Amino acid sequence: MNIQYFEQEKLFKLDTPKTSYVFGIAGKRGYLVHLYYGPRLDSLQGIWDLARVGENPALADANTKDELSYVDCMPVEYSTDGLGDFRESSICVQDEGGHRALDCGYVSHEILRGKEKLPGLPATFGTEEEVSSLIVTCKDPDNGVVLRLKYSAFQDVDVITRSVEVINEGEGSVYLKKAMSLSLDMDNREFDAITLHGSWGREKHILRRKLELGSYRTEGKKGGNCHQAHPFLAVLSHNADETSGEVYGFSFVYSGNFLAQAEVSQFNSLRVVMGIHPEQFSWKMSTGESFHTPEVVMTYSAEGLGQMTRNFHDVYRSHLMRSPYLHTKRPVLINNWEGTYFDFDEKKILNIAKSARSLGIEMLVLDDGWFGNRFDDNRALGDWYVNTEKLKGGLEYLVSEINKLGMKFGLWFEPEMVCPDSDLYRAHPDWAIQIPGRVGRRARNQYVLDISRKEVRDAIMEQVFKVLHSANIEYVKWDMNRPLSDLGSFALESDRQGELYHRYVLGLYEMQEALLQEFPNLLLENCSSGGGRFDPGMLYFSPQIWTSDDTDAIERLSIQEGTALIYPLSSMGAHVSVCPNHIVGRVTPLSTRGNVALTGTFGYELDTTKFGEEEITIVPRQIEVYHRFNDIIREGDYYRIASYQKNKEYDCYQVNTKKKDKALVFFTQVLNEANQKSRIVKLQGLKPEAAYRLYQVTVEDEEIVKDTGKLLSGQVVMQGGISIDRPWGDFKSLLYYLEETID
Ligand code: GLA
Repeated sequence: MNIQYFEQEKLFKLDTPKTSYVFGIAGKRGYLVHLYYGPRLDSLQGIWDLARVGENPALADANTKDELSYVDCMPVEYSTDGLGDFRESSICVQDEGGHRALDCGYVSHEILRGKEKLPGLPATFGTEEEVSSLIVTCKDPDNGVVLRLKYSAFQDVDVITRSVEVINEGEGSVYLKKAMSLSLDMDNREFDAITLHGSWGREKHILRRKLELGSYRTEGKKGGNCHQAHPFLAVLSHNADETSGEVYGFSFVYSGNFLAQAEVSQFNSLRVVMGIHPEQFSWKMSTGESFHTPEVVMTYSAEGLGQMTRNFHDVYRSHLMRSPYLHTKRPVLINNWEGTYFDFDEKKILNIAKSARSLGIEMLVLDDGWFGNRFDDNRALGDWYVNTEKLKGGLEYLVSEINKLGMKFGLWFEPEMVCPDSDLYRAHPDWAIQIPGRVGRRARNQYVLDISRKEVRDAIMEQVFKVLHSANIEYVKWDMNRPLSDLGSFALESDRQGELYHRYVLGLYEMQEALLQEFPNLLLENCSSGGGRFDPGMLYFSPQIWTSDDTDAIERLSIQEGTALIYPLSSMGAHVSVCPNHIVGRVTPLSTRGNVALTGTFGYELDTTKFGEEEITIVPRQIEVYHRFNDIIREGDYYRIASYQKNKEYDCYQVNTKKKDKALVFFTQVLNEANQKSRIVKLQGLKPEAAYRLYQVTVEDEEIVKDTGKLLSGQVVMQGGISIDRPWGDFKSLLYYLEETID
């Protein structure tokens, strides 16, 4: 077992292949004291020194004259509130008298193979051979609140997960005002923080900054749809780069409001907390009731950021994502959104399908506008029945015609929303989230449905199921296009209104689970105005998420780099669209658009009936490249080689097979310069002793994969590099393929 308890030393030790995590029980009260998280330890001798027990009366059970100052510096497993630890608390419990305090001590623990499920919440999973768990129960005898601190350590990847169950075993009700999933105290080793930020169409740009005294937080408060911040935080040594240095990464498996904070204290210690955002959160717990926090996935890498990324990719691909499509090539799709917007009928869609099929495209996705009275984005969300004025013969006709072409069919929904101008809203105005007596604020002329209510969820899913049963629909794009505001639920008591945000997320998870239960072979793609809800919680339900509404290849370099910092390439929805790009107006070569989209799920978002000769020649070749190389991209190890976000000149990344016998190198020159030589880029992660044949993959010629005639040693390409000729022009992309040779 990779989790042990040492009775005499009162120490818990959790091991992953290359890391260890250690904490112990101290003092009469049985405080859980954090001791170590880092490279794997063989021996724990002397580890208690790290708690400075001698200095701490609370731990040494010495006189308690000045207990308070020690409480404020003790490294704990789960920080509490109200009793003298003035750093960030992880939990806040308010009793019926209005007092807020919690002081928990160890009661018992259990170590088990495998991992408990989190009720109603997405979470990582594994077999009894792959993961072990530790659950430590603590109690505050004064108010009867019990904490079950849950840890799971994976055996095949350097990941430990954390979550907390809070139980009210006291006599009266209590209100949970805050319940973080993770609290981690460490010595501050001169850390930086990395977080992801952006806006609509400009998601997940990487931001690195130095941690100074005080707190740095990243937070999402929009109820789920959040382009501005992301439920992820890394703390890393100043000198950490792609291949070296210490990195701690924390990723939150949740799709609602979040807070992640790194705080450097007066004594130069570092506390990281992560969990549901406490603002507007309050959860009533009657006697015997419990609350489960979502899960935080944490990883430690002593080999820089690249290894952190690969740990997240591995754990999410092997232990979080569940789709039958996960390890298969996804059908190359065409989505009509940028091609037609709302202006289509069945003839236009069928014409697009026919021309797309002749190029090799395998699935048509009909986006927004097929239902109710939806002729523009001002009406009809909530009315999930086919608009037969637009689509004569309904979906039955359209889908069967598309199937006859040998293509699959997919459909767009936005199930969580309602437009004031809809049959649904006219029948049930109280189903929208709103504050009684106030006129709710609209966004894109829509309100958010109160899916914390079962009758609302059921009514929507009934409509969705009916549509999906009416024709052979094999893919769904589940969209969500506005944040939550004007918080109020007609179904919740006044002292439970603070539960709405979280109940909303639980409702969403229940709806998506119901969809997958009803249609187990469905390919589900989540979306939220692009990448507004691209998080691990949603990945549990859908193997792919639309990365951004911005399909410009150059903008996508940064967006996809930030997304791939945590998420597998196979999960990033990426399409080739027309030029000038609809969002930024940039004109880029079709081959570059293709190469950038290849890094994700790959598809097209344009009107193929408008194609000229160039597209008709190149698109089938791009699809061939996708089929030839998607296995590597989907299942391989990803290495960032050069970041356009940082150097403003060029971008380069590499994907290797797990066996390291094949690799793809994507290179994009953003702006060319006069009189420059070829560029040398150092590759990573190959076998130093192997020899690789270098091919260039190009859609410009009939021969797509061309032998360059170069045979290169693994050691040379990693320590020296490969030389890349500068393409003539801006926004040009090159793709190389390396294959080990045993000649
Ligand atoms: C959102 C999505 C787009 C498209 C539109 C349709 O913006 O991100 O891809 O589906 O909605 O309204």
